[in-house]
Amino acid sequence: MGDPHPKPTAGNPQAKLRATTLTRIFGRPPRTVDALGPVDLTVTPGEFVCLVGPSGCGKSTLLRIAAGLLRPSTGTLEIHTSSRRPATMIFQDYGIYDWKTVRANVRFGLDIQRVPRREANARADDWLARMGLSDFADAYPATLSGGMRQRVAIARALAVEPELLLMDEPFAALDAQLRTILQDELLDLTQSLRTTTLFITHSLEEAIVLGDRVLVMSARPGRVIAEHRPPFPRPRTGDIRATPEFTALRTELWDLLRKEAAPA
Ligand SMILES: Nc1ncnc2c1ncn2[C@@H]1O[C@H](COP(=O)(O)OP(=O)(O)O)[C@@H](O)[C@H]1O
Ligand SMILES: [Mg+2]
Repeated sequence: MGDPHPKPTAGNPQAKLRATTLTRIFGRPPRTVDALGPVDLTVTPGEFVCLVGPSGCGKSTLLRIAAGLLRPSTGTLEIHTSSRRPATMIFQDYGIYDWKTVRANVRFGLDIQRVPRREANARADDWLARMGLSDFADAYPATLSGGMRQRVAIARALAVEPELLLMDEPFAALDAQLRTILQDELLDLTQSLRTTTLFITHSLEEAIVLGDRVLVMSARPGRVIAEHRPPFPRPRTGDIRATPEFTALRTELWDLLRKEAAPA
């Protein structure tokens, strides 16, 4: 609308997620913890935004506010999704139910949406096949490895075809190889589905591989101190990890992050 500098992502100007001077303080005086902000942040439709920052800077706090699990102290966080296609969240510790089978876990969101059982099972099985878990549909999560459990969590989140995906360090508990494999899978999935995603990580490599934008946060209370667009066109693959541009950006971001991570 008359904007002389339209952004590349501006096909639909409506933001899926918008944080405005968002802060969160925990506790009561005199023992308060300034955990977050102020943060201003917009995620546009189809965009994959990665937030990186030192441990304890307020990343999970931000995501919990976005997921409606926590109230901000000041500022606002708006989410614009239709009610039929919700925002879903994937946590570092999987958040799957050990007393439900793998298929029932993946079907969980569909059951809540009252999708008829036959259709829900078919959609769950489709996601299990994509995630290489077909043989484990009737197994219980406790019998699975960490990587498989996280695949179940991803299948469950994506099965509802979310309009907005919120991920809080989903691969942090996995070993390096598995992590790389799941990053590549997520890259594939989100590029084909164009899922709008806000992804939190403390891994720069992960943020650069996955993100349209990488936002770097300061030490607590976390604010956004830098924004980069990794120079890799879509669709991209994990092969970009081997390029000089990747290494250069990682070094640049690491210099920023190292200053923030150093003890005051
Ligand atoms: N419920 C809470 N009560 C008090 N302090 C909290 C609570 N949740 C988080 N914090 C504090 O807020 C800061 C940010 O935490 P968090 O958002 O989990 O950081 P991150 O995810 O970036 O590691 C930390 O200092 C943490 O100890
Ligand atoms: Mg956290």
